[in-house]
Amino acid sequence: MDIGENGAEFVVVANRLPVDLERLPDGTERWKHSPGGLVSALEPFLRSHSGAWVGWPGIADAEVAPFEDDGLLLHPVELSAREVEDYYEGFSNGTLWPLYHDVVAQPAFHRHWWNTYVRVNQRFADATAKVAAQGATVWVQDYQLQLVPAMLREQRPDLKIGFFLHIPFPPVELFMQLPWRTEIIRGLLGADLVGFHRPGGAQNFLWLARRLVGLEPSRGTVGVRTRPGVVQVGDRTVRVGAFPISIDSAGLDAVARRKETQARARQIREDLGNPKRILLGVDRLDYTKGIDVRIRALYELIADGRVDPEDVTMIQLATPSRERVDHYKTMRQDIEQSVGRINGEFGRVGKPVVHYLHQSVNREELVAFMSAADVMVVTPVRDGMNLVCKEYVACRYDLGGALVLSEFAGAAAELTSAFLVNPHDLDGVKNALQAALDIDPAEGRRRMRALRRQVLTHDVDRWARSFLEALGTQTSV
Ligand code: ADP
Ligand code: F6P
Repeated sequence: MDIGENGAEFVVVANRLPVDLERLPDGTERWKHSPGGLVSALEPFLRSHSGAWVGWPGIADAEVAPFEDDGLLLHPVELSAREVEDYYEGFSNGTLWPLYHDVVAQPAFHRHWWNTYVRVNQRFADATAKVAAQGATVWVQDYQLQLVPAMLREQRPDLKIGFFLHIPFPPVELFMQLPWRTEIIRGLLGADLVGFHRPGGAQNFLWLARRLVGLEPSRGTVGVRTRPGVVQVGDRTVRVGAFPISIDSAGLDAVARRKETQARARQIREDLGNPKRILLGVDRLDYTKGIDVRIRALYELIADGRVDPEDVTMIQLATPSRERVDHYKTMRQDIEQSVGRINGEFGRVGKPVVHYLHQSVNREELVAFMSAADVMVVTPVRDGMNLVCKEYVACRYDLGGALVLSEFAGAAAELTSAFLVNPHDLDGVKNALQAALDIDPAEGRRRMRALRRQVLTHDVDRWARSFLEALGTQTSV
């Protein structure tokens, strides 16, 4: 893949660029790493190849010319403050996000949000049409840009277009609530290959193509990375498949093995007063992540006398996210209240039960936290994949630690040696937490070995290659 003189041969289009522009109070600006799993996964892949990335720089009204960042050509798409409100906070995160996550919060259906979503998708499509070379491969990412494949095809029928959804694709009964359901399906059908994390998402999409667009999709069962569904759209064949995303497993394993990382992990334990056991949660502060569930489970375990707060400490790292969206404001208040409650009742001076950091940490620090933690707690009520659990496994080259993982994360289908829990079943979560805290070391090593086998052999490179090969693109890996 190369950047030709007349445009880029390979273009990623995502709502965000891999770097976010930050305006500091003194008026200066700087770029920082963008939050979220999409960037964590795609950035290492893209940086080891060449290509262009079309995306929003993360703040309103930022007029930024295209620039090169470490071999990657970044093409910023400008959004006004109103567009950020209606397209990003509104339709993407107030309508689609809750709808696609099993309606765990009520989605809002506003026509002006939808209209802005259409307009902004058109802008991304226009920007991409200018950047892509003749016959280039364009890989459109995620729920914010579902109309881009069809809009782009309209202008540039020469392109090979792939689309990947990073969040769950919902059951058809829920999707059917969306007033603009047919437009979304038609938008996605502009791609040559539509990818989901799980076969279930692909099957749902095929069913909707029949029901809403009147097409005749294949009826066979979609496999993981195999047996994609097929649907004929005019003279084009669209394929629909399942490609579970992953992480830069070897990269994290290497960081974890560094002496400095292990020294930092020991320091973290010491700073916490060397508790017998450390529980860790790492998430964007999002209501789908079930942060409240794990804090409530720990609270009850202590209240029941099953866990001694002198022995067990929890760290919760929570990246600030979508802070102006109502559901997020309420959830932050609830979580901070529950942290206050557990610490107020069971902590003592210098020894809180939960250390809650509403902050992002860098990669090295994250690996040190993961190396220090005895139990990683990942309890989303719904998650497309969840990369955090895979990152934890990649960090545990020592075969130490235990993973408690929600059945409702896409990763649960792959990480079957974790302590799998139903996050709606609080007693089940408590039992799993206790079992993970008390795990026999030999059993822990057995489980971690099995988890590592999966994560190290199914990394992000394999994900990208399997998708791009199905799209018919040479990845020159
Ligand atoms: P999502 O895409 O919904 O945010 P994922 O689990 O797929 O969820 O990806 C989250 C990514 O963000 C992971 O790479 C994780 O390590 C990173 N991350 C989450 N919280 C933090 C934090 N507080 N500091 C640093 N990285 C974080
Ligand atoms: O993986 C889901 C996702 O929404 C990505 O599309 C996004 O990059 C990430 O989470 C972070 O969310 P946001 O871009 O809204 O901060």
